[in-house]
Amino acid sequence: MVQAEARRSVDMVGLMARTLSGIKPTGPLTLGRYLGAVRHWVDEQSSGEAFYFVADLHALTTVQEPGEVAARTVELATLLVAAGVDPQRGSTVFVQSHVRQHAEMTFMLECVTSFGELRRMTQFKDKSGEQDFVSGGLLTYPVLMAVDILLYGIERVPVGDDQRQHLELTRTIAQRFNSRYGDTFVLPEAVVPPVAARIKDLQDPTRKMSASSTAGPGVIDMLDPVDDIVKKIRRATTDTVGSVAYDAEKQPGVSNLLDILGACTDEDPEKLAERYDGYGQLKADCADAVLDVVRPIQDRYRELERSGAMSSLLADGAKHASGIAELAIRRAQANRGLWTG
Ligand code: TYM
Repeated sequence: MVQAEARRSVDMVGLMARTLSGIKPTGPLTLGRYLGAVRHWVDEQSSGEAFYFVADLHALTTVQEPGEVAARTVELATLLVAAGVDPQRGSTVFVQSHVRQHAEMTFMLECVTSFGELRRMTQFKDKSGEQDFVSGGLLTYPVLMAVDILLYGIERVPVGDDQRQHLELTRTIAQRFNSRYGDTFVLPEAVVPPVAARIKDLQDPTRKMSASSTAGPGVIDMLDPVDDIVKKIRRATTDTVGSVAYDAEKQPGVSNLLDILGACTDEDPEKLAERYDGYGQLKADCADAVLDVVRPIQDRYRELERSGAMSSLLADGAKHASGIAELAIRRAQANRGLWTG
């Protein structure tokens, strides 16, 4: 009975366009994460059913202070809603660890992922080099990410450019499971924005603006005081070329500012470049455009914090997500050949 129900549900999932994405509570919501991912989540939610979650288990792959993970989890979830990810517009918002099926399904899919595939992942190579203690979780993390997606029969995954490789592995794992054990998982696609897919650090524009625990001078935290945001943009590294061109190779700092301005104003960065002949005006306009985006999100964030609405919103989200995930896991267990009673 349960299996028939599970099969029917997953078959239906295959017919519906579902979107999902996640964010790790390892640091603030940076302007990069917002422009590269979160604001597209808001657009995607109107085109079908959507699932957005805070990937708190993913934060455990590197050593984090326990209190910090919890505080960042609530902060990020509140910011998602403040940015417009809205349960009333069809989005299910939840915290990954509240849906136990994510961890449960991971082991089964680790068994169809090879050690070589995991060892070759760019993020593993980069991050393992930075850690004194390289955890097994850091290696198997991409399988947990695949599970996040495959549990919900997702077709569209809006992410920044750095997540492409993880999406490719997700498809490989799903295809391998389907071909060995029968049609079980929907194959997802990465949806990467054409502009601002990789916002760079303002001080070192050869590196991505990353979300490590504190936002330094090259990183804008969406909750930074507005004066700090203006200062960070004013002090952004440019170059000595003296003219404005959209050329990431020759003028990475200037191109990054054009990307940010273009993403905030929905304009083409290449065309924007033609309007400027000096860096000062570009920085001033970039700061104005960023503040126009940031201010309403900060206001809504404070309101949500005061209202205390997040706990029940996240509990409802986790309940809805668990219902779907449970059916998917039972189907996968049955197809894989576990005795399901
Ligand atoms: P995370 O938390 O590192 O980043 C969240 C999202 O923001 C995008 N992003 C950026 N985009 C443009 N410029 C930047 N500088 C920048 N920095 C980050 C990322 O591409 C991402 O889309 N593994 C994921 C979280 C995750 C997930 C998932 C995503 C867990 N499970 C399932 C999709 C589906 C991560 O670490 O993202």
